[in-house]
Amino acid sequence: MKAVEIAEGIYSVGVIDWNIRDFHGYSTEKGSSYNAYLIVDEKVVLIDTVKKEFTDRMLENIASVIDPKRIDIVISNHTEMDHSGGLQRVMHSIGEDKPVYCSKMGLKNLSQHFPGSLNLREVANGEELNIGKRTLTFLETRMLHWPDSMFTYDKTDKILFSSDAFGQHYAGFEMFDDRVGDEIMYHAKKYFANILLLYAPLILKLIDKVTEMGLEIKTICPDHGIIWRKDPARIINAYVEWSKQEAKKKAIVVYDTMWHSTESMAEAIAEGIASQGVEARPIHIRSSDRSDIMTEALNAKAIVFGSPTLNNTIFPTVADVLAYMKGLKPKNKLAAAFGSYGWSGEAVEEIRGHLESMGMEIIDPGLRIQYVPDASGREEAFAFGQTIGKAVNDAM
Ligand code: FEO
Repeated sequence: MKAVEIAEGIYSVGVIDWNIRDFHGYSTEKGSSYNAYLIVDEKVVLIDTVKKEFTDRMLENIASVIDPKRIDIVISNHTEMDHSGGLQRVMHSIGEDKPVYCSKMGLKNLSQHFPGSLNLREVANGEELNIGKRTLTFLETRMLHWPDSMFTYDKTDKILFSSDAFGQHYAGFEMFDDRVGDEIMYHAKKYFANILLLYAPLILKLIDKVTEMGLEIKTICPDHGIIWRKDPARIINAYVEWSKQEAKKKAIVVYDTMWHSTESMAEAIAEGIASQGVEARPIHIRSSDRSDIMTEALNAKAIVFGSPTLNNTIFPTVADVLAYMKGLKPKNKLAAAFGSYGWSGEAVEEIRGHLESMGMEIIDPGLRIQYVPDASGREEAFAFGQTIGKAVNDAM
């Protein structure tokens, strides 16, 4: 990908990773991009780098605009290695004594990633840096996504370089919101649900703070995916909605199955939920990815987990999704558990314990059916679904 000018003297110089499909456990079915931005002013500034293995390609993109040795300052908005992996190689190319601007926590974290090798310069929240015609402002955004995260804001063109926030794991030449279709919102939502959901309260505070500051934002340049230049408010408003975790009249029935018995229950439960006018979907864990399940969970009012009992405990794939979901701290959910069993049947109670530990409100103690559900067992599962559907309606 060549450098693309996004405002006078400001270029996108990052790279597309077309082939990545697993981003440490998150399914990236469309690939991703590691965005970096070059500002050519009296001082030449590079904002963020890329994954280590893509660094030479980023340097080639920069070289299509300017000799990389002319870069005076590097800004590290975020330490995670999809954005800092190329730092040492970049500094080696442009001059190792040149400064790397970062937040207070960025200084600590970059020092621990690249001990003694970078000329780090801490910037304070709100600090300004004049680079010629432009002035950049640094905004600390701790935990969006790491303690070191910060935004850089260009006052002249009102561009927010937002690091992970407002990003999407999406690979494409479209590059801008006005060139890509509505499909991008699914990828933005998936990114939020799997990376930022647990920091939702901080996001709401940050958006309030930015509103109070009267910061006008015409363009948002995240570190992954497309740039929001036509309608940046669309993604900001979506972040407010997702952060509030306001649910739809919707339930998901997440399960795994050994001999189709728990599957048969899941489908009858989903049908019972839908009979109450509530959107319902059975999701087989081994036919889905945990990150897609989490995306579906974001706006579901009820989450129903099903597992057979295997070796006196929960099926391992179900335990995986429960552990993953717990870490992301979804709020305001109703929940229930079910499963088929052979002789001991501990899974349902164990799942209930996990759901309670996530602060979910348990609708029903749970449904267990021994071995294979017959017609009356499937009726029981349908009725269990009806109870869940009614609880969703009552809660809306
Ligand atoms: Fe894209 Fe938190 O790194």
